[in-house]
Amino acid sequence: MFSKLRENFPTLRQDNPPAYLDNACMTLRPDCVIDAVNSYYTQSPGCSGRSVHRYAIVNARKVAGARTKVAELFNAPQTKEMVFTRNATHSLNQVAFGLDWNPGDVVLTSDREHNSNLVPWLQLEQEKGIDHRVVRSNSDNSFSLENFENACADAGPNLKMVSLSHVGNLDGVEIPIKEAAKIAHDHGALICVDGAQSAPHMSVDVQELDIDFFAFSIHKMMGPTGMGGLWGRMDLLKNMRSIQAGGSTVEDSHYDGFTWSQPPNKFEGGLGNYSGIHGTAAAMDYISNLDLNEVHKHEVSLNRIMSSIIKDEAGIEIIGPADASKRGGICSILLENIDAHDIAILLDEAVGVMVRSGVHCVHSWFNERGLDQGSLRASAYLYNTEEEVRLFADTLVEAVQSLG
Ligand SMILES: Cc1ncc(COP(=O)(O)O)c(C=O)c1O
Repeated sequence: MFSKLRENFPTLRQDNPPAYLDNACMTLRPDCVIDAVNSYYTQSPGCSGRSVHRYAIVNARKVAGARTKVAELFNAPQTKEMVFTRNATHSLNQVAFGLDWNPGDVVLTSDREHNSNLVPWLQLEQEKGIDHRVVRSNSDNSFSLENFENACADAGPNLKMVSLSHVGNLDGVEIPIKEAAKIAHDHGALICVDGAQSAPHMSVDVQELDIDFFAFSIHKMMGPTGMGGLWGRMDLLKNMRSIQAGGSTVEDSHYDGFTWSQPPNKFEGGLGNYSGIHGTAAAMDYISNLDLNEVHKHEVSLNRIMSSIIKDEAGIEIIGPADASKRGGICSILLENIDAHDIAILLDEAVGVMVRSGVHCVHSWFNERGLDQGSLRASAYLYNTEEEVRLFADTLVEAVQSLG
């Protein structure tokens, strides 16, 4: 159903296009996004919100328009709650280092977090004495609401923050955020959601989820690289410290003091990534025109195909639940006695299949299990086809049989 959209992507129109299955890392970009990025440099290569000439006016409108589109996509109550950042890592760091902490404050994460939603909390543990605790998943990596609720109860009044990935980049497993948000709030904590892997693949409504912060990567949503976003509740944003101070972040300054700007300006220090923001507006238009439920179904159907080809093969183990529908478009594979990087190179060089190999910035999960080789991860998106995932899975099985 999405195959005709392949025509929109220059890298897929070329002769012998790659089977690009590294979408959990970064997605491909359609023409409209590339054209919008170019349009900044060719038509209005100036600043926004400073000067009063035409370039600056065009860009100021573009930034405001892009912000509105992102806010609408996630159903944010106010457009000004939407902050442009460099990426999801920047957004999560803004939350972690923007709030006030006291020694002993408890922060809970899951045991399958990307470093971007683990290391800032570990850093705060070292620097501010917060108490970071890990909620253990079930044996198939699905989230345990029971363990989570117990961890909230154990933390008692010290529980200040719950920060969870919406969908894990390790295995594609979704955390029931709405339920987790209710439990977190019942225990008096805030909830921050790392939406890097959910925002591109499912509709996200921050009001319906009833969360406090939502961090996401625009470069995983067919938008330009170097673009991400943070949504936060206005009352929280108003009181949160900005992790950068300078141009835009202040209303006024004197030799002996300054006044902060209101959100979102307060968090967007310095001249921005305006070409990226032009591209973001186009990416938001593109993604808003898709039925994300259908995108999700398509990814699951591709995952079912690849998972069924490899699941019973000796020397191959899929991380996460056996049922592919619980792993979205991600098929992450442990290989016995074979280096995942070697297979990734072979897949690209021999048959043009691009996947990710290694620990995917989830070192902690692999380290705990002594799996220093990491895994081989194929991740599908709307433009991938059945032929591509079959090529991936068949070539992998053949390689494992001959090398294993
Ligand atoms: C779950 C998750 N969180 C955070 C990140 C970091 O995203 P970014 O590169 O936009 O900082 C990623 C990137 O792969 C991710 O998958």
